[in-house]
Amino acid sequence: MTTFGTPNTPQATKVMLLGSGELGKEVLIALQRLGVETIAVDRYENAPGQQVAHHARTITMSDPAQLKALIEKEKPDWVVPEIEAIATPMLQELEAAGVVKVVPTARAARLTMDREGIRRLAAETLGLATSPYKFCDSLAELQAAIDAGIGYPCIVKPVMSSSGKGQSKIDGPADVQKAWDYAMAGGRVSHGRIIVEGFIDFDYEITLLTVRARGADGSIQTQFCDPVGHVQVSGDYVESWQPHPMHPKALERAQHIAKTVTDNLGQGLDGKPAGMGLFGVELFVKGEDVWFSEVSPRPHDTGMVTMITQWQNEFELHARAILGLPVNTALKSPGASAVIYGGVEAHGIVFDGVADALQVPNTDIRLFGKPESFTKRRMGVALAFDADVEVARTNAKLAASRVKPRKA
Ligand SMILES: Nc1ncnc2c1ncn2[C@@H]1O[C@H](COP(=O)(O)OP(=O)(O)OP(=O)(O)O)[C@@H](O)[C@H]1O
Ligand SMILES: [Mg+2]
Repeated sequence: MTTFGTPNTPQATKVMLLGSGELGKEVLIALQRLGVETIAVDRYENAPGQQVAHHARTITMSDPAQLKALIEKEKPDWVVPEIEAIATPMLQELEAAGVVKVVPTARAARLTMDREGIRRLAAETLGLATSPYKFCDSLAELQAAIDAGIGYPCIVKPVMSSSGKGQSKIDGPADVQKAWDYAMAGGRVSHGRIIVEGFIDFDYEITLLTVRARGADGSIQTQFCDPVGHVQVSGDYVESWQPHPMHPKALERAQHIAKTVTDNLGQGLDGKPAGMGLFGVELFVKGEDVWFSEVSPRPHDTGMVTMITQWQNEFELHARAILGLPVNTALKSPGASAVIYGGVEAHGIVFDGVADALQVPNTDIRLFGKPESFTKRRMGVALAFDADVEVARTNAKLAASRVKPRKA
């Protein structure tokens, strides 16, 4: 039986978000609606999720001592990582000691905190199809890996990075040095390790949102949302839509890959199924062939489209799964999302054109409330629904283009 407490009483059901950006903010809102007491943690003050939570805490989440002290003080029932740069070995320690439950599991957070753990698990342990790859610690190793079989074109990514930071494509020998230098400048921590991947000439890429939630019989069951198609520019998502049409064989393979990897990441310390929550499984598709790319053990940026396309969006699905509640992944309407970038570098920017944007039929927007804007920082998203997904894409992009961020 699932019992819920009242926020701000000793019986409260308490959830701590580690990372409180736009994705965490929506998870927090979903939790708030279920009467959960929420603690929003980030590395800077007034982060989007901190603006909607009961409590806001600012710490360096990659510092194990600070993380431990905060969890021991706040005593949440669940800790929900929203970003990768967290002291995940400490989360594992605290989970093993029974201090806290980590969503979906501390092991999943640790394996996905850099590209190496998850790639080796998927390709080497689980035998899933991925791009050919090699991990390298120097320019010489990179060149040797390319010459020994990765070939051209290929993609270089820092092992610790996201949103395409430090990532570039190598078309021939002349690009190798440049790609190495770019990766060194763009990684999250300067320890010089990269992955080089053979370039997959896919027809399209999708995110398969996959939920592990408790069924009526108490067992953990896996459910899939309709595939989310998306366009990435320089490794960062600019628009997404749902559903993306797929050949039935490709869909079956995609679901098999997603189930295999999330079953593994959902294993608890004893190897038994334990972890619940939503995952974003990134896949490349060409004809009937499907390659695993990576997975987030949490809501995915391209999945923001579900705020307009599903009865329960990806954040609500995550919140429900965590709390042991049933989930419904059904589509409400086809739709699309388009990112609103900052366009300027400034604190406390203002947005013109919001009413004009919402004049576009069947649209909605989210402005995240980030205190500081950068040219390429995601500050909001436009959403559109339509029976025709192409119309929704056009309308989402039109609405996004009408929102004009500027310095105050
Ligand atoms: N081996 C590959 N072949 C072809 N395209 C690739 C390959 N690897 C990455 N890409 C392209 O670059 C995008 C970003 O790559 P990836 O997801 O690995 O980086 P990321 O920094 O983790 O991005 P994000 O955090 O936005 O998911 C992919 O969605 C895909 O469009
Ligand atoms: Mg990705």
